[in-house]
Amino acid sequence: MSYWQQLQYAFQANGTRLWVTPLFIIVAFALFALLPRERMRIRTAITLYILAFVDLAIVAALAARGVRVDGSVYRWTSWASFLLQGIAFISVASIFIFDILLAAFRLRTPRILRDLILALAYIVVAVTSLSKINVDVTGIVATSAVITAVIGLSFQDTLGNMMGGMALQMERAISVGDWIRVDDQEGLVREIRWRHTAVETRNWDTVIIPNSVLMKSRVTVLGRRAGAPRQHRQWVIFNVDFRYAPTDVIDAVENALRAEPIPNVARNPLPDCVFKDFQESYARYSVRYWLTDLSADDPTSSVVRTRIYFALRRANIPFSIPAQSLFVTEDDASRRDRKAREETNLRTEAVRRVDLFRTLTEEEVNSLAAGLKFAPFVRGEAMTRQHAEAHWLYLITQGEAEVRVAVDSSGATEKVATLHEGDFFGEMGLMTGEPRSATVVAVTDVECYRLDKESFKATLHSRPEIAEDISSVLARRRVELEAAKEGLTEEAKRARMHHHQGALLQRIQNFFTLKT
Ligand code: CMP
Repeated sequence: MSYWQQLQYAFQANGTRLWVTPLFIIVAFALFALLPRERMRIRTAITLYILAFVDLAIVAALAARGVRVDGSVYRWTSWASFLLQGIAFISVASIFIFDILLAAFRLRTPRILRDLILALAYIVVAVTSLSKINVDVTGIVATSAVITAVIGLSFQDTLGNMMGGMALQMERAISVGDWIRVDDQEGLVREIRWRHTAVETRNWDTVIIPNSVLMKSRVTVLGRRAGAPRQHRQWVIFNVDFRYAPTDVIDAVENALRAEPIPNVARNPLPDCVFKDFQESYARYSVRYWLTDLSADDPTSSVVRTRIYFALRRANIPFSIPAQSLFVTEDDASRRDRKAREETNLRTEAVRRVDLFRTLTEEEVNSLAAGLKFAPFVRGEAMTRQHAEAHWLYLITQGEAEVRVAVDSSGATEKVATLHEGDFFGEMGLMTGEPRSATVVAVTDVECYRLDKESFKATLHSRPEIAEDISSVLARRRVELEAAKEGLTEEAKRARMHHHQGALLQRIQNFFTLKT
């Protein structure tokens, strides 16, 4: 037979149908265009397909040169062609099935499972194609069982890891993106490979854990709870002197932590504070909060500690100090006097700096100063909230704050003024008995003194003319608030100013029962 006849014969023996090649080419090129990620595999499949044809050409050449068709050279060469073609088909088909068909139904198959199915398919093609060249398959299966057993025994660890990897992926007990703790290591699962799982720690390290170890160890998946968002409970511990009531400590801390949302701290459950333990000379408290970004544990705890620090300072509750130094300071009367004098000076200074009180005598300033309470705020904290009940008038001695008013029911707010050292706020609610008209937020850390209604009432009674000064500041501020909400013209503002001032003065006088 001529070479061409041999080639035709080889094609027939190979079982290749005419329509198979165009179909393979169309599918392979369509996938090549659609899935850039899989181009490498498709390229390999096409190369194998071409090699299968080259192999057929070799088979035909061998036969044309008189090599026996039933000889082993001819048979194994044509088997190689069949195998190459089979592998090429399976590769392209697997890409089509897993990346197009199953993906259309949103079914994501773990990479390991996919590789395993492919390997099995290759073995099936290799073994079944042997029957085409009259090789006794049962003999090979028996031998391969022995080989498998030998390989299995010698690669026990590797196989253990691979099985572990497969189990991990299929059961989805741990997935890429989970935060896990194994022994004392915590980290983010970056990838699950055949033999190991790579975990990135917060220290910027990567821990490689063999999958078999992962399967045998107790693994904690941090922050995972069925049907709930990912969040992990964190503890922040602090100590306070026994002389302060736990209820006061807990209230002060919880209010400060819950008032303004803290980045990466869940709102559900809200952060809380618990009385943790009695120690020798102090009480131990813990703040528990639920961290939503597990990589940001230390920075978030730091913000929480800062809030605790400022809340306790505002409530005049000191952190605990060693008991022995407590005795030393308590006995030192002169030091106490000096401290008290310094504090009084600071307070009278604060009162004098406020324009409103410029006409007060020294005695009046001193009596007003005696009623002041120190109130520091950390930046970002709301110092008063719109619609809340008013208890205090605030005098800012340090820092900057912003007055914000809600402009619609969606909760959107607009800035109406910025307050600095020497400014005061909170007078509207305090003087008229109305709820707070705006929210005042600390832009920087702010130090204030606050004055309660009773102390302020005493001052107003001795100096009723202050009510007039305040009513004009009040009227101006109220008009600014209304302008932010309603967008008033200059003329409308003036008219409102005039109207408000008279009405407000009347209200203040009534509220504080001042004589007119
Ligand atoms: P009060 O209503 O008690 O609480 C919010 C406070 O924000 C309010 O008192 C004023 O002291 C202050 N405030 C409201 N509007 C202005 C404004 N336009 N300029 C400065 N301060 C304001």
